[in-house]
Amino acid sequence: MTVHTHRAGDKRYSLVAIVLHWGIAALITSQFIVGPVMTRLSDADIALQFTLYQFHKSVGITILILMSIRLVWRILHKPPPLPEAVSETTITASKIVHFGLYALVFILCLLGWSVVSASPYNIPTLLFGEVVWPHIWFIEQLPDKQAAETFLKTVHAYGAYVLLTLVALHVLAALHHQFFLKDGLIWRMVPFSSQSYNKTNAKKEKV
Ligand code: HEM
Repeated sequence: MTVHTHRAGDKRYSLVAIVLHWGIAALITSQFIVGPVMTRLSDADIALQFTLYQFHKSVGITILILMSIRLVWRILHKPPPLPEAVSETTITASKIVHFGLYALVFILCLLGWSVVSASPYNIPTLLFGEVVWPHIWFIEQLPDKQAAETFLKTVHAYGAYVLLTLVALHVLAALHHQFFLKDGLIWRMVPFSSQSYNKTNAKKEKV
């Protein structure tokens, strides 16, 4: 297996990694808006509720597919090196949060897929109204689907709020680098930027 390392001058993630990062971030944000709204609609809004559930499921499966591509890309392409000033503790903390983010997004998508597979009503999932997405066969076969669905819904909802906490930590860390440490680390994830953390550090050294 060939693992692509970054060339000496590379200070940014590859364009593929950047597009996947921001695309998935936007889709996850939409899940956090649509998910709580659709589950709190009254019976009077049944048509809207159905549409939103289908949208939430479609976006969720899209996230699952994009995350799989992203994971393969991440395994094959090493991220650009961090500035030397970043401490070992910070590196370890960021590795834990990044691993947690990857793992939780996968787990949440699989949990959501399990919820719809366990539904006693057996409602099909139509990706963006076009493609039928199958249910997970062994969950579909469970003897007490009602109990399984109730349990999986609860874990999916709690899991979503754990993910939200990790995302908040991730964003706070990025803002801390940008506005307190001023090391310009954030530019590694910005496409076509002329800024880099080296230039930012150089500016700091002159002050
Ligand atoms: C990163 C991906 C996902 C996130 C962040 C997410 C987030 C959420 C949130 C916040 C809720 C509302 C929980 C509540 O307040 O009760 C929810 C509900 C739900 N999600 Fe997801 N979700 C994701 C993926 C999926 C996927 C892939 C599916 C299915 C294919 C799915 C199916 C559902 C269903 C059916 C509900 C309603 C559960 C109920 O009726 O209580 N989700 N999701």
